[in-house]
Amino acid sequence: MNSNGKAVLTYDGGKSIDLPVYSGTIGPDVIDIRSLGQTGMFTYDPGFLATASCQSAITYIDGDAGLLYYRGYPIEQLAEHADFMEVCYLLLNGELPNKSQRESFEGNIRRHTMVHDQLTNFFKGFRRDAHPMAVMVGVVGALSAFYHDALNITNAEHRAISATRLLAKVPTIAAMCYRYNTGLPFIYPRNDLSYAANFLYMMFATPCEEYVPNSVLVKAFDRILTLHADHEQNASTSTVRLAGSSGANPFACIAAGIAALWGPAHGGANEAVLKQLGEMGDVSQVGKYISRAKDKDDSFRLMGFGHRVYKNMDPRAGVMRKTCHDVLNELGLHDDPMFKLALELERIALEDEYFISKKLYPNVDFYSGIVLRALGIPVSMFTAVFALGRTVGWITQWNEMISDPEQKIGRPRQLYVGPTKRDWLPVEQRG
Ligand code: SDX
Repeated sequence: MNSNGKAVLTYDGGKSIDLPVYSGTIGPDVIDIRSLGQTGMFTYDPGFLATASCQSAITYIDGDAGLLYYRGYPIEQLAEHADFMEVCYLLLNGELPNKSQRESFEGNIRRHTMVHDQLTNFFKGFRRDAHPMAVMVGVVGALSAFYHDALNITNAEHRAISATRLLAKVPTIAAMCYRYNTGLPFIYPRNDLSYAANFLYMMFATPCEEYVPNSVLVKAFDRILTLHADHEQNASTSTVRLAGSSGANPFACIAAGIAALWGPAHGGANEAVLKQLGEMGDVSQVGKYISRAKDKDDSFRLMGFGHRVYKNMDPRAGVMRKTCHDVLNELGLHDDPMFKLALELERIALEDEYFISKKLYPNVDFYSGIVLRALGIPVSMFTAVFALGRTVGWITQWNEMISDPEQKIGRPRQLYVGPTKRDWLPVEQRG
């Protein structure tokens, strides 16, 4: 980051403090408020609407222009030309791989997809109908009980080993969640399949007959993983960074990220979109739901719409909509009523003054559920798939945070509005 002058804060009727201003390579400047403590005051920013928590070289978002770059490469180009393994290498290493780098990276991932056989016992502790995200949080967190041979987070090689283990094993664990939920036997991963094909194989193969993943569906799923790979300092990534700032091991940090992603305001929105479209039923009900979304006295939100940063179309939503077309056409479902309903809902909402004035556009979650459903993935697994794609982004952000010389344990302050000092009273003297 580069110094770019200063901001002057005046307070207390005449006092002032100079606050340095820094510029990045692109995007808004930041005001360094670390010296604010000398004023005896804190900044106040619930939800961190105007707070940069770190400097990062991984992902850039321009919410007004609807831009998303991974290490400088536009998401539309990566979705079109790269596959998820190449995107993982790019995020983790900062550059696109050459042929030998790509082969070595992917070969390493493919050889680490199996989990310790005792890990299967953890599943038996859950009810069959447990939500897959509850199981994912538990089982991913438990990985640190199995792989404690490389948990020294100050050791870059240990961090790389843990990154490989997480990237390779999270798909296996996610597929196991689905298999356990359905009562089907776990399917071992195969080293001869691509990352996306292997996941679909572990999800849908049976021991009774050969299962060959459809290449169009594999490509679509691979693209979905790319679209979910990283998104700068979103809630779950910030959770991973905060957990990591205490020195917690990477498996615990990623489990914390999975827990944060589960919320319907975040990664849980893809599941909520499908439920909402299902409740809506058909186009005749769209107006009622739009009205509820606009009613200030109704806490109802149109799921899959709006975003903290994007005040323009989420570029991932456009790619996801196209992927929807590809998958539904491949499956002969181009008349899928839910997809038609989603297209009509998007059209009506984007013409509505409320959505226009508040700059509420479809986000990544609006169409992803329709594609996942068409791929045969149950609604309950949607957020687990989001976690599967985002794991590489969480690991990359965690790695950057650990390696950042400015990094300290995250410890925000507060504006206290509770009782002033008072003395304890015996129960007889209480009101
Ligand atoms: C993800 O941060 C990331 O990068 C996340 C993510 C990633 O890749 O990691 O992009 C993934 O989480 C996408 C978002 C998925 N969530 C949803 O689709 C849930 C529905 N969306 C909303 O809950 C909401 O838009 C948020 C949570 C996404 C953003 O909320 P903000 O930034 O806190 O915005 P806000 O709630 O302050 O809304 C601003 C205004 C409000 O009205 P006013 O108080 O100004 O009158 O817009 C309204 C809101 O009521 N509004 C909506 C709305 N979203 C915002 N009104 C109706 N329907 C909606 N969906």
